[in-house]
Amino acid sequence: MADLHGLELTPQVAAALPDWSQILAHLKEPGRPHAVDVLRAARASGRPAVQPRCGVGGQQQMLGLLRELEPARPDILSVTIDSHTRLKKFATAEALLGGNPADLNGYPLVAHGWQRGRELVESVSVPLEVRHGSPDGRDLFAVTIASGISSFEGGGIGYNLPYSKDVPLSRSLRDWQQVDALCGRLAQDGVVVDRELFGTLTAVLMPPSISLAVLLLEAAAAAREGVKCISPAYPQGGEVHQDIAALRAIRSLARRYLPADVEVYPVLHGFMGAFPRTPEFANALILHGGLVARLGGAAKVINKTAQEAYGIPDAAANASGISLTRLGASDLFDFVTVDEARVAEEQYWVEREVAEIIEPVLGAADLLDGIEAAFRAGRLDIPFSASIHAHSRVVPGRDRTGAIRYADCGALPLSAASRRFHAERLRAPEGTPPRSLIDAVTSDIYYFLAKEDLLLTSASSSASPVSSSSSFSSSDTSDTETRPR
Ligand code: 5AD
Repeated sequence: MADLHGLELTPQVAAALPDWSQILAHLKEPGRPHAVDVLRAARASGRPAVQPRCGVGGQQQMLGLLRELEPARPDILSVTIDSHTRLKKFATAEALLGGNPADLNGYPLVAHGWQRGRELVESVSVPLEVRHGSPDGRDLFAVTIASGISSFEGGGIGYNLPYSKDVPLSRSLRDWQQVDALCGRLAQDGVVVDRELFGTLTAVLMPPSISLAVLLLEAAAAAREGVKCISPAYPQGGEVHQDIAALRAIRSLARRYLPADVEVYPVLHGFMGAFPRTPEFANALILHGGLVARLGGAAKVINKTAQEAYGIPDAAANASGISLTRLGASDLFDFVTVDEARVAEEQYWVEREVAEIIEPVLGAADLLDGIEAAFRAGRLDIPFSASIHAHSRVVPGRDRTGAIRYADCGALPLSAASRRFHAERLRAPEGTPPRSLIDAVTSDIYYFLAKEDLLLTSASSSASPVSSSSSFSSSDTSDTETRPR
């Protein structure tokens, strides 16, 4: 049985693993591509690496998918894991794999085992990352590194609260601590694991300072365990100055709060909210994501596809999403500059808010206990939480420019100045008819659908974006699993 330096595993998973020295030797084979090298090169070039999400159940199908995506020249490819594996229901995943693998909404890496994981690694020339959504990713991480994959998404907050109803933070934080500690050990042994953190959270109108506060706390926890490469991922909100500021703030906050020997690579998630349905608007938004990533100095961007509104994309749509994102970040758009004063103002406020939120937590005697206590008190909070372990008293809203502000900051420890900033930005002009909270939040969520209606489809449809979006037939959706990962 493998001894993975304190990583506690399900016995059957542990029993199937090779031993540590073999895992390490395989990871260190010369010529093996690693995500950290791609990220370093992207930073040096000033253009973000592009990475799709992708995962299907069967081995041959997954190999085929990776091969189909490679010609679109992604810089990193994903192994997106199915929901059963994310919840450690490995036997269910295995049964489906034996029966109808197409019923899996991702690749069941644990059921396949590390030998088949290595086949995936060998099949393409770019590094792979495992993306999932597990509050407890320990077994999956062990099979990931045994497969030769050195990039792993998730953290004790971001992979718990958006995905699980009732997993205590104390549990998920301690489980992820073990993953990070093993990354620390790997770094000592010469393998730098890229740990990507999921700042998208619930993917709905996330105020940037909440996303960044969670990212910084997870990053601090990871760094304390010896993690040397961290990719904090921020979700594109839709207002350019705010998004660029948030991406740039990741680097300056990392300099302030993380040890100097930790490499930090900001990542942009192409818009994660309600996505336009026309291919024209969807593709414009995808291109826009690439451009924003470049202007914000992101080292990587996770692309969307024109099929986003309808479910999990097929390979052709994904390949096109990769290409469009790369074009958005390319020198074709180097003539585009932004109002730097507006970006600087946004960056000032977001950094200030993050400091106000995280400094009391960073001062706790034990960081993980401090995070848990802060969520219990509502001093850390996320809107629209799936989990009972966040209050969700925070209410976001878009201002007239589309930027995401706090309509109610709940019990977040924001200063009077920060609160005033948000209140002023949200103040409606004299004579604006009042809107109910639910109407305001709903129209803010469907922000891009309203633009799509206005710019492209309003002649044929006078329906509000909200009602037209709810007129999807369920058969349009290939998969009802819509949680991000
Ligand atoms: N393959 C590709 N994309 C996936 N997503 C979820 N599962 C998969 C998969 N197996 C995407 C959704 C959405 C985001 C949350 O993740 O389509 O864009």
